[in-house]
Amino acid sequence: MSYTLTTPLYYVNDRAHLGSTYTTLACDAIARHRRLRGERVTFITGCDEHGQKIQRTAEAAGLSPQAHCDAVSEGYRELWKRWQISFDRFIRTTDPRHRQLVEQFFARVEAAGDVVEGRQQGWYCVACEEFKDDPHEAQDPECPIHRRPLEWRDEVNLFFRLSRYQGQIEALIRRPGFIAPASRQKEVENFVAQGLRDFSISRVDLPWGIPVPGHSGHTFYVWFDALLGYLTALLEPQEPVQLERLPERGWPAQLHVIGKDILRFHAVYWPAMLLSAGLPLPVRVFGHGFLTREGQKMGKSLGNVLDPEVLLERCGRDAVRWYLLRDIAFGDDGDFQQQRFSDLVNSDLANTIGNLLNRTSSMARKWFAAAVPPAGAAELADHPLAAASQEAAAAVNRSLENLDFRAAAEAILELAGVANGYLNDRAPWKAMKQPGQEEAVAADLYAVLEASRWVAVLLAPLLPELSGRMLQQLGLPPFLSDAQACAAGSGWLEAQHWGLLASGSPLPEPEPVMQRLELDAPL
Ligand code: MSP
Repeated sequence: MSYTLTTPLYYVNDRAHLGSTYTTLACDAIARHRRLRGERVTFITGCDEHGQKIQRTAEAAGLSPQAHCDAVSEGYRELWKRWQISFDRFIRTTDPRHRQLVEQFFARVEAAGDVVEGRQQGWYCVACEEFKDDPHEAQDPECPIHRRPLEWRDEVNLFFRLSRYQGQIEALIRRPGFIAPASRQKEVENFVAQGLRDFSISRVDLPWGIPVPGHSGHTFYVWFDALLGYLTALLEPQEPVQLERLPERGWPAQLHVIGKDILRFHAVYWPAMLLSAGLPLPVRVFGHGFLTREGQKMGKSLGNVLDPEVLLERCGRDAVRWYLLRDIAFGDDGDFQQQRFSDLVNSDLANTIGNLLNRTSSMARKWFAAAVPPAGAAELADHPLAAASQEAAAAVNRSLENLDFRAAAEAILELAGVANGYLNDRAPWKAMKQPGQEEAVAADLYAVLEASRWVAVLLAPLLPELSGRMLQQLGLPPFLSDAQACAAGSGWLEAQHWGLLASGSPLPEPEPVMQRLELDAPL
């Protein structure tokens, strides 16, 4: 069995932004943690390439929709590579096999009697690709999210009979853990309680979409097609499309991570579609919050969009991952503040974690022949730093299991804090000047180096690169947590054992493991 998790499939109307980067980084940490623990993981990401929004964007750029999609989705794939996202599958909804899968799925839904013709009238937001329930203003209504005019639509479409699934969806969304965090459950319950209405799954006069078999002139509504991308992604390369094989390929997904704006699609429409087609339902849908920047919504018109390329270039992966995962409670809205960003990175990573290792290994090298000192009493499992390390590991594992990145990061930071406190109390630089203290100093330095090793181990799912640099500084190999590396077993859980650092093993020349962020100009 594999643990299948997904990011949303990102629209290719624009390049990646901080929001999509945030979701993708969070999923990467989850995937790495699972792999490190020895689970098989299928981590899916990709692009959503059909629909009116994409068609209009391509037209405005003077490109064919396909050429536009090719360019933007390649940009996404490259960006995720540069961020070292450990995805296993990258699905594009313009993949020819996806079209076949959509056709097969639709055939099942139609055979179940769930497709009817109907008239769709209402206000549509092209940016959301969604009909809006009740626009507040009667005249020239705007989308509350995009602040752009809604468009009036009146056409004959095919409808999916969502109303038939009222009872099953009610039961599903009440199931503890299906919608996470729990605070989002109420909002979906309220929506469902109003009574589910059939929704249109086709469009007429929209050439940039998958044609609906047997209904000429209709293409599939982009959301119907996009959600199915999660299934297509699971097909093995070159494998013919067969819906019945999906359970062997990792369906159902254990986790869909999405932003709160698209919760309804994932927690209501999608399960109903799957019920209709006789396929298993995803186990959990996690709706995270929205990011603002210095208290303001990010948008092109405001000119304050934070570009993930710039962040990567100027700040590096570790810093951004740490800030987003440590400072924002996953599920809540969050605000990107540049000053706070650099303050946290410098105090947590450069000082508390980085300096601890640096100064301890410098002392060990100086006084103990450039090697890990003899452990002596520090080897004992009841050493205070052994207990603190074990506690931190338990908290990290538990918190990551619950998708609480912040609690995981805090547990690691606390361990580093305790080790710093221990070093300051024991003051080996003073003790070393007293006669007969060498053994005690050796044991203290050993304990702090070993605690730093635990910090590095526990950081592996969150900040794989900093973890690797710390381990290198201790003369140890990194934990690899991408798909190929973990197939043979990562040794990560085994590394959570006090006293594994070998006394006498050489310590390399220390170098700062984390550069300080000095952001003088705005990002
Ligand atoms: N194509 C659909 C998803 C289809 S999934 C089968 C889509 N794409 S999107 O590119 O517009 O949005 C992708 C994700 O980015 C959504 O989960 C959305 O919530 C998230 N975010 C967009 N702006 C955001 C912030 N400012 N902050 C955090 N996440 C945000 O929707």
